[in-house]
Amino acid sequence: MNIKELVSQMTLEEKAGLCSGDDFWHTKAVERLGIPRTMVSDGPHGLRKQDQKADHLGVNDSIKAVCFPAASATAASFDPDMIREMGEALGDSCQHEELCVLLGPAVNIKRSPLCGRNFEYFSEDPYLAGKMATAMIQGVQSRNVGTSIKHFAANNQEHRRMSSSSDADERTLREIYFPAFEMAVKEAQPWTVMCSYNRINGVYASENPWLLTEVLRKEWGFKGYVMSDWGAVSDRAAGVAAGLDLEMPASGGINDALIVKAVREGKLDEKAVDLACERILTIVYRYLENAKPETPWDLEAQHEQAAEIAAECMVLLKNEDGILPLKKEEPVAFIGEFARVPRFQGGGSSHINCVRVTGALEAAEGLPVTYARGYSVAEDAATEEMIAEAVAAAKKAKTAVVFAGLPDSYESEGYDRTHMRMPECQNRLIEAVAEANPNTVVVLHNGSPVEMPWIGKVKAVLEAYLGGQAVGRAEIRVLYGEVNPCGHLPETFPLKLEDNPSFLFYGGEGNVTEYREGVFVGYRYYDKKKMDVLFPFGHGLSYTTFAYSDLKLSAESMKDTDSLTVTAKVTNTGSVRGKAVAQLYAGAAGGDVIRPVRELKGFAKVMLEPGESREVRFTLDKRSFAYWNQKIHDWHVETGAYTIEIGASSRDLPLKGTVQIESTVRIPQTWTLDSIFMDIMKDPAAREAVLPMLEQTVKTFGPGEGENREPDDDPAVTEDMSMAMLNYMPLRGAFSFQQEAGASREELLALLEKLNAGTR
Ligand code: BGC
Repeated sequence: MNIKELVSQMTLEEKAGLCSGDDFWHTKAVERLGIPRTMVSDGPHGLRKQDQKADHLGVNDSIKAVCFPAASATAASFDPDMIREMGEALGDSCQHEELCVLLGPAVNIKRSPLCGRNFEYFSEDPYLAGKMATAMIQGVQSRNVGTSIKHFAANNQEHRRMSSSSDADERTLREIYFPAFEMAVKEAQPWTVMCSYNRINGVYASENPWLLTEVLRKEWGFKGYVMSDWGAVSDRAAGVAAGLDLEMPASGGINDALIVKAVREGKLDEKAVDLACERILTIVYRYLENAKPETPWDLEAQHEQAAEIAAECMVLLKNEDGILPLKKEEPVAFIGEFARVPRFQGGGSSHINCVRVTGALEAAEGLPVTYARGYSVAEDAATEEMIAEAVAAAKKAKTAVVFAGLPDSYESEGYDRTHMRMPECQNRLIEAVAEANPNTVVVLHNGSPVEMPWIGKVKAVLEAYLGGQAVGRAEIRVLYGEVNPCGHLPETFPLKLEDNPSFLFYGGEGNVTEYREGVFVGYRYYDKKKMDVLFPFGHGLSYTTFAYSDLKLSAESMKDTDSLTVTAKVTNTGSVRGKAVAQLYAGAAGGDVIRPVRELKGFAKVMLEPGESREVRFTLDKRSFAYWNQKIHDWHVETGAYTIEIGASSRDLPLKGTVQIESTVRIPQTWTLDSIFMDIMKDPAAREAVLPMLEQTVKTFGPGEGENREPDDDPAVTEDMSMAMLNYMPLRGAFSFQQEAGASREELLALLEKLNAGTR
């Protein structure tokens, strides 16, 4: 199909029309030219294909589909290959249902435990989120169906989500809020990107040329079309100019007419409209030319796949006395309504109309398990009878397993949580059960961290996140040891909400939310502050144990343009087979830039038989060590030492090595009389030029026969002190502290001029 040719045949009205949806879920047809409609659908962890009467908030039912674990869970698998396979299954379903684009994955950073949509997002860490998103996109798109990575960008709260401005500096955006999008665009080339509702530093994402054109297309090389989140358009003509190709859903023709008007009045270049149409039609035909509606969709097989994935995502947070796995012959009490009717997905646009749901109680059929309801989800309460019944069941059993977590109303798209607590009735239930039976296990269903006031009283905690429709089957497999737990936390569980770095500013004031914690999000903050947390980023136990050894770096020193190979050995030192997640963190050991102690730069999941060892291998490049330099608007590595740590979590890093990196990039400097000695000394060219002129000053303040020296001073101490004082001295000190002329002001100015000319 010659797309350019096709667009050239369209009238301005037709082109403007094509730039918005036909209804909630379709792009427009242009019958005159034989251009058909295509359908898009939520996403991300299943199909929410709605019929024509549909509304996007999900009041009307969508078709029956399989609900896979939500991103909060799948991120915990640290297993991109598995997520790729999940994407392939979703891609097949889309082909079967004749869908052109699946609206996901959602990769926004979990800035605060409070965000209502955290369950739909991967992580507090951009590298992990990027890896997972990339794999999912590759999986779906391998079936010739598009994805829409969302919500671009800095959409980290639901509060005032359609009007709020996320105000963050460039470095914070580049290091924390952009990389998941960047990695996915560069490595998986999503067919579409969905821009977010919010503004960024005052400008709506949907009309932000820096975001949608400069960064997304020019820098990262995005080739597909950008669509708006549903209803995210404010100024449509500005959006077209900025790079927003498709407005979703329909605007009843109102915004299309504004595009036409803007072109007619000379305010919008018609070429921008052409370009948007070309991008939309390229994707429309890419799908149509590869459509395979005959692709089978095996719901049963996908239910089983969902169970397998869910088991890989569960995180064993605590397992005192090896209370888990449970033994099949021993009596166990399942307590809590979530055992029977699990919470396995979140509310809002990602809500799937499931073919079926398997809870733990159903999946435990045939095992010696009793059940007590414990609390009522609908009433958000536990009566005295419910608690008494639960206590009695717990007393009779060898082990009590409480299924708890957040009810639907506690976390959903559209609004944020106001606290990090679980329902009070559930906390009360857990305390009562643990009191009645010391062998108490808690299984959690939630999309975001919760406080655990009872943590010291229970022996084990299994974090199931929102594990999809087959979550119960996965829970039984993990609880009884059929599957060895291997999930790791994709986020920190702080002890309390107030510990979270965004706590003071989250939600913002009016329509402005300042990201004042900057790059110190999640573990980047807790580690820098050496704070105690409930469970650290990357944490996850197993029924076996692993040892890390033999760290090797391919070089002791390197240039920032080189790459470094890091290897280490992981050994299964326990008695059952299991999967380890080896995590590599890099950090600057020193330097002038305020940076996190460590940042995740690699991970590898490996299956090991008891006694078996395997090598894990990582390749690190400039980006692994770099920070975003706001002066050169680019990634930069300061010359200096960098640490590389490997282990089982961000707080369990037995292997540590160091590499010395030399920067090949000179940050341009403009030296003035106010520049201080310390900075000048670091720049070889400046140092060489300026030092001879400053000899007198160096004599006065620096080491040598300075006037400040007393006869009995320890020369070493005096030297240190005078050097320290000189460090912060501006160049102008060269003449202002001297009676006899050293360098004159004019001489210095002339020299600076020469020096600056050379660096420009
Ligand atoms: C959500 C998107 C979703 C869209 C379509 C919006 O409210 O933010 O994530 O894809 O609706 O349902």
